[in-house]
Amino acid sequence: MIGRLNHVAIAVPDLEAAAAQYRDTLGAVVRAPQAEPAHGVTVVFIDLPNTKIELLHPLGAESPIQGFLDKNPAGGIHHICYEVDDIIAARDQLRAAGARVLGTGEPRIGAHGKPVLFLHPKDFNGCLVELEQA
Ligand code: CO
Repeated sequence: MIGRLNHVAIAVPDLEAAAAQYRDTLGAVVRAPQAEPAHGVTVVFIDLPNTKIELLHPLGAESPIQGFLDKNPAGGIHHICYEVDDIIAARDQLRAAGARVLGTGEPRIGAHGKPVLFLHPKDFNGCLVELEQA
């Protein structure tokens, strides 16, 4: 069901420092910060030849990233995103297998303008999984 790895998202305490590290130390193509108020994050996209990295930093008081950084002050991998062809079919198949879909269970429009869903980390070895309809 799952296809390509779309991105790995890393929550970072200092967005500017993290972006500079990826650009200057790791030599990656780093894009300008993008505010995503609907998701409570500011995102920096990093293009790699085979996937993307998303640096996530809290935006606003209700940011879901703030709680993660409170528990992981140095930052850490927040989620991984797999592509699926049909997000509704994927959701229904996963639910039938006992996996929990976060929120209402209805896809939302993610940072790339495509429908996304999140799966409960406790059902996936402690890893928050995002599905994106590619
Ligand atoms: Co993501």
